[in-house]
Amino acid sequence: MPDQIKIAIAGFGSVASTLIKGLQFYKSSTEGLWHPKLAGFDITDVVVTDIYDIDPSKVGKKVSVVSDYKVDSDLIIQPGILEDPISHNFAQTGGVKSTSYQDMVSSLKKRNPDFLINLISSGMDKSGEKYSKAALEAGCSFFNATSSKTVNDQTRSAFSSKGLMILGDDLMSQFGGTAFHRGMMEFITHRGIKIEKAYQLDVGGNKDTQNTMAEEIREKKRKIKTESISVEIPYPFKSTAGTTEYAEQLGNSRVSKRIFGLYNRDGFVS
Ligand SMILES: NC(=O)c1ccc[n+]([C@@H]2O[C@H](COP(=O)([O-])OP(=O)(O)OC[C@H]3O[C@@H](n4cnc5c(N)ncnc54)[C@H](O)[C@@H]3O)[C@@H](O)[C@H]2O)c1
Repeated sequence: MPDQIKIAIAGFGSVASTLIKGLQFYKSSTEGLWHPKLAGFDITDVVVTDIYDIDPSKVGKKVSVVSDYKVDSDLIIQPGILEDPISHNFAQTGGVKSTSYQDMVSSLKKRNPDFLINLISSGMDKSGEKYSKAALEAGCSFFNATSSKTVNDQTRSAFSSKGLMILGDDLMSQFGGTAFHRGMMEFITHRGIKIEKAYQLDVGGNKDTQNTMAEEIREKKRKIKTESISVEIPYPFKSTAGTTEYAEQLGNSRVSKRIFGLYNRDGFVS
């Protein structure tokens, strides 16, 4: 068994920076960490080896000097790959800085991470797919933390035939809107109440929420979040969950509102 898990990250935004800060923060104390030990590894065994992005204001710079995130690391952000049309935001702020698929594969082969984690912007489906291909070709496992559909029977068997893993899709925070919503539904069901309908409406102020405002991306994410929430309940009910609005003044925080329509044997409860 290796003594470290080396990870490379595609997309240095709010989640990637929080991940790196978390790895540093929990080195001194694991209090509050959900799984201090996993499969024999602890947090000090996880090492970030490489970071890729396409934002020209980040590529070529040290992680520590990229504004907003305040991450203490000397890693230099390398150019990633781009297969999707660039979003309105990128077009407005001077385009992208990317590299070729072959260069990406060579970089992964040279650096040899155990995992490539996909944390690129929402809606970049083709780029995410290309990153998974590059990981497969380079011989590293892949974790798709975005809501783009990447993991299916075909990709699973392609990775496992090479002794690699593909994980995803999407990720759920330890205590975010989706985790809380699912927990509430479990509790309601456990108390013998039937859920007739449920909504989770999120308003956020970060860049990813802004990207999600594009109608096509919003629809796709809503479908995935709705499915992920409905999975808790063993019967069909009307459910909607997803990002509803971008409010810049919220910055990196998010406000999540949940509404349930509940019934018991006597009729409507709330
Ligand atoms: N914030 C959450 O709680 C949460 C939860 C689950 C999933 N996610 C997903 O994680 C992803 C990242 O979220 P975030 O809040 O960090 O977003 P973000 O907008 O802060 O960061 C995304 C980064 O990806 C970069 N990027 C875009 N296309 C790229 C490409 N082709 N190659 C390399 N880099 C690229 C952007 O330049 C940006 O720096 C999103 O897809 C989001 O849906 C986030």
